[in-house]
Amino acid sequence: MAKDKKSCGDVIDEWKEFVWNPRTHEFLGRTASSWGLILLFYLVFYTCLGGVFALTMYVLLQTLDDYNPTYQDRLAIPGMMIRPRGEALEIVYSMEDTESWDIYVESLDTFLAPYDEAVQARTNVECLPDRYFLQEDSGEVRNNPKRSCQFNRSALLQCSGLEDRFYGYRDGKPCILIKLNRVIGLMPSKDGESPYITCAAKTDDSEIMGELEYFPPNGTLNLMYFPYYGKKAQVNYSQPLVAIKFLNITLNEDINVECRINADQIKLSGEERDKFAGRVSFKLRVNS
Ligand SMILES: *[C@@H]1O[C@H](CO)[C@@H](O)[C@H](O)[C@H]1NC(C)=O
Ligand SMILES: *[C@@H]1O[C@H](CO)[C@@H](O)[C@H](O)[C@H]1NC(C)=O
Ligand SMILES: *[C@@H]1O[C@H](CO)[C@@H](O)[C@H](O)[C@H]1NC(C)=O
Ligand SMILES: *[C@@H]1O[C@H](CO)[C@@H](O)[C@H](O)[C@H]1NC(C)=O
Repeated sequence: MAKDKKSCGDVIDEWKEFVWNPRTHEFLGRTASSWGLILLFYLVFYTCLGGVFALTMYVLLQTLDDYNPTYQDRLAIPGMMIRPRGEALEIVYSMEDTESWDIYVESLDTFLAPYDEAVQARTNVECLPDRYFLQEDSGEVRNNPKRSCQFNRSALLQCSGLEDRFYGYRDGKPCILIKLNRVIGLMPSKDGESPYITCAAKTDDSEIMGELEYFPPNGTLNLMYFPYYGKKAQVNYSQPLVAIKFLNITLNEDINVECRINADQIKLSGEERDKFAGRVSFKLRVNS
């Protein structure tokens, strides 16, 4: 039946001939010149492909600016954040239980360390208050590096950690710091009035929240800290801060507080989807 069935030796011989055929001088079924042409083709093909890729990359990189993001959210409403942060923006502690508030004190110590007078004096300059600190580039000529204004922690007075190193946590009059996230080029107000931060209790909580004190006075973020030119141009920039101190909080109650920025160039609509745009809410509870 299978009379022309190849023997094992035949198969091996056929393979050998396929790999190297001494008669036709073919290697794997192709002659040297055929292989040469194929290699040449792929060489040219991949060189062109690589060239096109490099060119595209080069053109793209040309359009990027080292100092400013090419794409920035149109939204000029900076986010806000509190310090200490606590879990899920909740600050809960017991006055008598030192360990329960020690983490907050430590967190504030760490956060405020770059605002020490010695550090500020070394890295930043004293600026004229109540006006923008403008350092524009003139055309293509970069006005870099740009200087930044000093913000000494002593400006936070009773919340600076200098007068009271427990930031009021021990006495049930805690301080909370509020910072505005950096937005490159933000000029928060037109009429020369510095933006300021106000905090209020959410519904029903005003009575139990008690009075607040703001540092610096009126909760202002001085105009001299604006505009911000970006991390690369303004390396030593210190974000201005506002501290609020709860003077007469009702103990053993949850208090929901919302702080917001007020500035004529920052319009907060009630329907704002982002709950951190120009405002921040947190829960505070002091147990005793
Ligand atoms: C910050 O502190 C330094 C050192 O004490 C002082 O020279 C400087 O005037 C202070 N700056 C501001 C803006 O208060
Ligand atoms: C930034 O701070 C360093 C010291 O840490 C200082 O040498 C440098 O001059 C500062 N840069 C600017 C632009 O102020
Ligand atoms: C705080 O605001 C009040 C009224 O708006 C103003 O009279 C006072 O001068 C402000 N204080 C500071 C230190 O800016
Ligand atoms: C503190 O708040 C309580 C009510 O929660 C009030 O009766 C008291 O007068 C307040 N004290 C001060 C100094 O405002």
